[in-house]
Formats: sequence, C-alpha cells, structure tokens
Amino acid sequence: MSKAEPRLQRKLLAWLLGPLLLLLVLDTIAAYWSSHRFVNLAYDRALHEIAREIVMHVKPGAPRPRLELSDTAANILLTDAQDRLFFRVDDADGAMLGGDAQLPPPPARTRSHGEPRFYEGALRGEPVRLVAARMPINETAGAPVVHVQVAETLHKRSRLAWEMMANVVLPQLLLIFMATVVVWFGVSRGLQPLQRLRRAVSDRSHLDLSPIDTHDVPGEVRPLVDEVNQLMARLGKTFDFQNRFVADAAHQLKTPVSGLKAQIELALREHDPERVRHSLAQLYISADRLSRLVRQLLSLARNEPGALDTVELQPLDLNAFALEVSMEWVPHAIKRGIDLGFEGVEQRLMIDADRDRLRELINNLIDNAIRYSESGGRVTVQAGITPDGHRKLAISDDGPSIPVEERQRIFERFHRWLGTREDGSGLGLAIVSEIATLHGARITLEEDVDGVGNTFSVFFQPAADEQLSAG
Ligand SMILES: Nc1ncnc2c1ncn2[C@@H]1O[C@H](COP(=O)(O)OP(=O)(O)OP(=O)(O)O)[C@@H](O)[C@H]1O
Ligand SMILES: [Mg+2]
Repeated sequence: MSKAEPRLQRKLLAWLLGPLLLLLVLDTIAAYWSSHRFVNLAYDRALHEIAREIVMHVKPGAPRPRLELSDTAANILLTDAQDRLFFRVDDADGAMLGGDAQLPPPPARTRSHGEPRFYEGALRGEPVRLVAARMPINETAGAPVVHVQVAETLHKRSRLAWEMMANVVLPQLLLIFMATVVVWFGVSRGLQPLQRLRRAVSDRSHLDLSPIDTHDVPGEVRPLVDEVNQLMARLGKTFDFQNRFVADAAHQLKTPVSGLKAQIELALREHDPERVRHSLAQLYISADRLSRLVRQLLSLARNEPGALDTVELQPLDLNAFALEVSMEWVPHAIKRGIDLGFEGVEQRLMIDADRDRLRELINNLIDNAIRYSESGGRVTVQAGITPDGHRKLAISDDGPSIPVEERQRIFERFHRWLGTREDGSGLGLAIVSEIATLHGARITLEEDVDGVGNTFSVFFQPAADEQLSAG
C-alpha cells in the first residue's frame, strides 16, 4: 500500500510532464530551424553586399578585366570581428581574376538565372556560408560580366542562432520546471485524503469491521470506500454467524460428550454383567447420536454458500432419483408404522444436481416427515412439474402442522420447534436449505389442504441442456 501512492503520484506527473517535454523537444527543433533561417536571411544580404563591393574593384581591360583591390580596401571589405571572409573573382570564361582559388563552387543543382546563390560549403576544413553571383563590372551597357564568390565562416551566425533559440527554449524550460514543482505539490496535497484513508485502514485492528468514515473522502474514491464498507458489513455478518455457529456447535457437542462420560463412569461402577451390557447399549445409542451430530456439522460446513465453486452439477432424473431414495426409507417407515408412498410422473424430470447432496436433502426431509408423524400416519414423496416449468419435489406428511410463525425459523441452524417429543439437533432443515441454495432451488413449506400435516416443496430449474433443446 505504501508503495502504491507515490506510484499514482508519479504516474500523474509522467502524464502531465511527458507531453510537455515532448512539446518542448518539438519546439526546440522548430526554433533551431527558424533561427537559422532568420540568421541567414540577415547576414546573407551583407555577404551579397560585399560581393558587389568587390566587383566594383574590377576594371575593364584586354584581353580580360583586371581586379584592382588594394590591401587596404581588401582589409576594409574582408575584416570582421568574429568571422573570416574569402573571395574569388572569375571572368565570364572562368579564368580566375583574383582571390582564393579554393572556394567551393555552388552546387551544380542550383543553377541560377542571374540571382545570387547562397549555399553552405567547407573551406580548408571549416564550414562556411557562400554567395555566388554573376554581375557586370559597371553600369555601362556592354560592360563585361564577372563571376564573384564570397565565403564567410559561421561564428557569428551560429552564435546568433543559438541566442535566438535559447531565448525561445529557456523560458519554456523554466515554465516546465515550475509546472513540475507546482504539479508535484498539488498532486501530493490532492492525495492527502487518500493517505489519511490508508492510515485509517492500516491502523485498524483486524476485528474492527465498523464502516470507514467517508466524511473526508474525495468523490472519486467514495464509491470504492462505500463498496468496502458494504463488504465489511457483509463480512461482519458472516463473522457473527460463524462465531455463533462455533459457539452453538461447541454447546451442542458439550452436552452429549458429558452424557457419554457420565454413562461410561456409571458403566465402570457396574458389577452385574447384564447391567454393564445395558449401559453399553445406551452408550452405543449416545455415541451414534453424537456421530450423527458431527456428520451434520461437517455437512453444514461442506454446503455453506462459499462451497459453490466446488459443487459439480450433473444432469439427473429427479423422478427416478426421488423414487430410488424413497425406496431406501421403506423398511424404516414400516418399523415406525408409517405408510410411505411415492407419486411420480411418466416423463423424466431432468435437473442439474450433485447426487450426494441431493440425496442428503431428500433424506433430511423424509427423515423429518417420518420422525414427526404419528404412528399410522402417511408420508408421500411427489415428483412433478409446475405450470411454469419448474421441477418440483414435495414431501408431505399428515403429522401436526408447524405453526405459521415457526415456518421461517425452523430453517435456521439449531432451531427446533419444541412442539415435538422427538430429539434432534435442529440442523436437518438448515442443511436442506443450504443444499437447495447451492442448486439454485427454492423451498416452500405449506400445510396440507385440510389444515393438518406439512408439505415441504423444493423447486428446481430444468437441466441446462434441456433448456437449450427446449429453446
Ligand atoms: N415434517 C415435519 N413435521 C413437523 N415438524 C417438523 C417437520 N420437519 C421439521 N419439523 C420441525 O422443525 C424443526 C427443525 O427441523 P430440523 O430437521 O432442522 O431439525 P431436527 O429434525 O430437530 O434435528 P435434526 O434433523 O438435526 O436431527 C424440528 O425440530 C421440528 O420441530
Ligand atoms: Mg430433522
């Protein structure tokens, strides 16, 4: 967490400064190009002027004109504080009249039509700017034409160009630097509420699930904090539930375990083999109950909503499966004097289910129906299809109806309706409800039409491939 925030800050800065720096680079290139252009424009004119002055020193003559440039005149013309200047004059036929023989000629591509030509070149290894022009030696008609070139080193041009560029770029660089500082402070100030939020969360104990204060939280982060608060509320409920469950389970286990201990102590004190046998038989019953309770607790843990990922639902015929499970109960029902019947349908009722879990669901419902019915009663298992296409499994009995106010609560863990004498731990229907939820099924509890008995109905969605073929 402590690393994530500077990262956000850096990211924001990078997004702001990256484009700015890119702009600066582009602007520098443009400034470089245009300053060179302007500098050349300014100094080229002077260079051309010097060429003209030199030509004024060419005098007509035969067979060719002569260049009469005294050292003093040359000094005046070709002296500059920062640069060195060179020249060369040729007559119309290309014979050199004077100057420096090494001046590079204008590039062949740039043939001019009387206009002076400006170009870059190198003279004895040093870069120079040159002008080349053809011009008559004086104004009189028919005056001979000469070809003149003047070269100048680039010192003052480069200096001026750099100065112009610096004038443009340096203020921008300063601006960007200032923007960086301002943005840096702005962003860190802007992120302060997040820092406080982080501290508020990191300073908490792992048991404190109270909502985070959203008073000072920026609007952009508020939905996130709200979600976290809701998550904490849900977690809090789950924790409460788990804690209560563990406490209940411990409490529920404590009683049978103490019972077992007491029975064993009693049996140990017996001397009559017959009574020892009887105690052992009692012990067996208690141990059996205890083991059922432990199985139920495991089952609850196995079927809690979080287990959804581990459930593998497979297509299964509810009609045939309900019949198969009911058949297994027949001997037990007969022993209790209960008439256990099955009413199915002709067709197959395909649903997506986990076989073992569905068996557990049906077992718990039939177990309750038989357990809480009077001897001589009737229990009916029904499989069918509802008008809206749900696959329905119903288990009805004609025992005492569960009062309306109890109908919701009996699905809670460890909740027993005390209207019966039968013993149990109050987990059966909680397991049924969890398994139904894992299957996306819905359970209802109604009394029979005549007001006695109970009907537990479970409504399943049709199997996915059946829905596909139906669609
Ligand atoms: N078919 C039924 N007829 C009458 N009462 C029922 C029926 N099914 C459930 N109940 C009532 O609902 C309560 C909760 O049932 P549940 O199956 O959850 O627990 P249990 O049967 O008491 O114990 P367990 O099933 O864990 O051994 C029962 O105590 C019983 O009073
Ligand atoms: Mg039960």
